[in-house]
Amino acid sequence: MTTETDTKPAYSPGLAGVIAGETEICWVDPNAGLMYRGYDIHEMAEKANFEEVAYLLLNGELPTTKQLEEFSKALAAERPLPKEVLEMMRLMPKNTHPMDMLRTGVSMLGPFDPQLNDHSHDANIRKAIRLIAKTTTLIADGFRIQHGQNPLPERPDLTMAGNLFYKLSGEVPPTWKIRMMDTIFILYADHEFNASTFAARVTAATLADIYAAVTSACGTLKGPLHGGANEEAMAMLDEIKTADRAEDWMMNALAKKAKIMGFGHRVYKSGDSRVPIMREIGRDLGQRVGKDQWIPICEKLEATMDREKHLCANVDLYAAPVFAMLNFDPALNTPIFAASRVAGWCAHVVEQQDHNRLIRPRSLYTGPASRPYKAAAASNGS
Ligand code: ACO
Repeated sequence: MTTETDTKPAYSPGLAGVIAGETEICWVDPNAGLMYRGYDIHEMAEKANFEEVAYLLLNGELPTTKQLEEFSKALAAERPLPKEVLEMMRLMPKNTHPMDMLRTGVSMLGPFDPQLNDHSHDANIRKAIRLIAKTTTLIADGFRIQHGQNPLPERPDLTMAGNLFYKLSGEVPPTWKIRMMDTIFILYADHEFNASTFAARVTAATLADIYAAVTSACGTLKGPLHGGANEEAMAMLDEIKTADRAEDWMMNALAKKAKIMGFGHRVYKSGDSRVPIMREIGRDLGQRVGKDQWIPICEKLEATMDREKHLCANVDLYAAPVFAMLNFDPALNTPIFAASRVAGWCAHVVEQQDHNRLIRPRSLYTGPASRPYKAAAASNGS
């Protein structure tokens, strides 16, 4: 009979290629495809709005007109934050990164939810609506507080995309900008077992609550190898400045073995499904706002990286200049990603807890072999 100590389970560093669970929510095709519940992301990005996609991710089917109306109303009604959470944000150091503010805010919201410890399907969906609604409020109100401004009242007549612009700047954006933001939110809404979603599922699988799971996800998204890349990519583009400097910059960085933000992906090896849409938004926006320098820099970087290392650009490379041209502070790049991905995180928590099994892998022990214990007193000779 073989015991567990005799067998050697397969080991994959970084869990690369490991199937860690089942999901009906999202499929990432390594050959540059992406589907939400069977619907092609490219079609959704063109035709749907974020609320529709959030409904689809949470409920499994597209909403009817009436269901969408009710869902959008419920989201808008849940936007305001408890005053204690606003007070907490005023107490945070002024230089707190917006992702740290968001993570802390999500965590603090938990005990204010009367259904915090009810993990039934229906309660989880209701909590998901509250969390999706309040995430943009945490981001916008937190940002204004940090910059010495008072949070603005909600505009329930605006969709989440429109309301985010309004809550940050006090201005209702033109329709084309809201449409563009909806497309961006749709592109970022889910991506199967990416690092932050996996973190959320690991937390949810212990039967901790959805706020705990989304807090784990926010902490994970912040890292520059994941969501944090879209802030770092903007710093890189700012440094490069013009397309004619991009190739030299890249060659220098590669010679120093630097990790270039906005390039590479664990799953996509022949292109990120979201890049062509984000690149197109960048081109369109560049013309609209008279800042057409950014996309040619990205394209030159892409060509150089492809030639040198056969690595593809990921969505964060193009999201960075898009957010800059939409006038968002670069520190908000990753929180905006979170404002959308929270829909995916919540859908995965619901799915995890509906069919739960603890997620607990093994490690490959590489430490010292068994050795005799020597007490400190004995080895000191005292
Ligand atoms: N810059 C330079 N070299 C890279 C990069 C990069 N961005 N990405 C991968 N490589 C190199 C690796 O160092 C490795 O080289 P080696 O074989 O000489 O050691 C080789 O390419 C293969 O790397 P992978 O195994 O494919 O990378 P992995 O799957 O472990 O990591 C990751 C994926 C973390 C996304 C990586 O590509 C990276 O760090 N990219 C930069 C950060 C980034 O843009 N993150 C955003 C991801 S998308 C998202 O979260 C929305």
